[in-house]
Amino acid sequence: MSKSLQAIRGMNDILPEQTPLWRYFEATVAGLLDSYGYRQIRMPIVEFTELFKRSIGEVTDIVEKEMYTFEDRNGDSLTLRPEGTASCVRAVLEHGLSGGGQVQKLWYIGPMFRHERPQKGRYRQFHQIGVEVFNLPGPDIDAELIVLTWRLWGLLGLRDAVTLELNSLGSSAARAVYRDALVTYLEARREQLDEDSRRRLLSNPLRVLDSKVPQTQALLVDAPRLEDFLDDDSREHFAGLRARLDAAGIPYVINPKLVRGLDYYGKTVFEWVTDQLGAQGTVCAGGRYDGLVEQMGGKPTTGVGFAMGIERLVLLLETLDKVPAELARQVDVYLAAFGEAAELAALTLAETLRDEVAGLRLAVNAGAGSFKSQLKKADKSGASYALVLGEDELARQVVGVKPLRDEGQQQTVSWQDLPGYLAGCLKQH
Ligand code: HAM
Repeated sequence: MSKSLQAIRGMNDILPEQTPLWRYFEATVAGLLDSYGYRQIRMPIVEFTELFKRSIGEVTDIVEKEMYTFEDRNGDSLTLRPEGTASCVRAVLEHGLSGGGQVQKLWYIGPMFRHERPQKGRYRQFHQIGVEVFNLPGPDIDAELIVLTWRLWGLLGLRDAVTLELNSLGSSAARAVYRDALVTYLEARREQLDEDSRRRLLSNPLRVLDSKVPQTQALLVDAPRLEDFLDDDSREHFAGLRARLDAAGIPYVINPKLVRGLDYYGKTVFEWVTDQLGAQGTVCAGGRYDGLVEQMGGKPTTGVGFAMGIERLVLLLETLDKVPAELARQVDVYLAAFGEAAELAALTLAETLRDEVAGLRLAVNAGAGSFKSQLKKADKSGASYALVLGEDELARQVVGVKPLRDEGQQQTVSWQDLPGYLAGCLKQH
């Protein structure tokens, strides 16, 4: 196939074999967020470029080199959203959702776009589920966000595979003092820094802490520590969060080098990481951004949230064999009919069953075929039962119910009793 007719590198089709797992994951998260009283918001995928520059920060990797930015027909500079927080804050401001100190607990789901180098777990179009909470300044809500993700790992069977890393970045004033101390320390060792870190030293020195280069990491061992510069308010907030996590029995490690790649954070930052996915091990990440709403033109409004990468969590479920077996089953029941008259009867019988058996997933054979070929298709569909309707059954107004997965005998059941019979069978599966 010519290259221009293929999907863009780093942008993936999610094929029918994969969608059941995606839908299971999405439904699990949506159900969980419903149960905590969070409400969904849906924002556009494209925004003015300025929005991301102002919120994520001009000298971040995302804004400097990863955005899909283009001019539209009006000459406006637009960008495919690289993340959801900026758009969510914009929407909240634009619709006055946080006015008068109103609390908002919101979530969103959808594709995000970053021009990164694609590899396992890192794509150019990827999907996030994100949560943002406005006007709750205390550590109790930071703790709730972590508690609810912990519950999610429990529901998905992932608790043993993830670790919570936690840090506090302090207030912006405290961070500025720390930044100066760090720059002084690193400037004196400039020659030993890797090239990327030297560049960051000028533009965004805290990101040097993030460096993966061993020599730079070695240099950082004796560097000034952010925690020694924390303001009292941030210190108290962080202690409050830790006390709540301890009370809830949620394990965590403090990672003083966790600074995150987006500029809007202050106080709490956290990441859930796994060592099961290779280099792209962060499955969920977030933190507090109390200054962002004001920075974008709103009244002072606190914010805190996180986003998880769906591709990475789906990969993790697959890697750890945590995919529920029933997802392989497309349908519960496959109705096979032989002969024109039986086919006609099958059509109405199927509709009756769909009316009367709650949640039934029923496929009706299409394209006729011999007994053998129809049963082969029934088996391939993953159905637990095949319903057999031939001329003889038609005359007697019955069907043969043939178990496909267990040893049981084929039963003959009248059309009238069939809905109740199937409902009973499905309950056992
Ligand atoms: P982020 O750390 O840039 O934060 O992304 C959050 C998560 O999205 C990552 O931990 C990862 O699981 C997933 N992710 C990011 N980039 C990629 C990629 N190229 N391919 C696959 N997955 C990826 C944010 O986006 C913040 N808006 C989170 C937040 C919300 N903070 C406060 N509220």
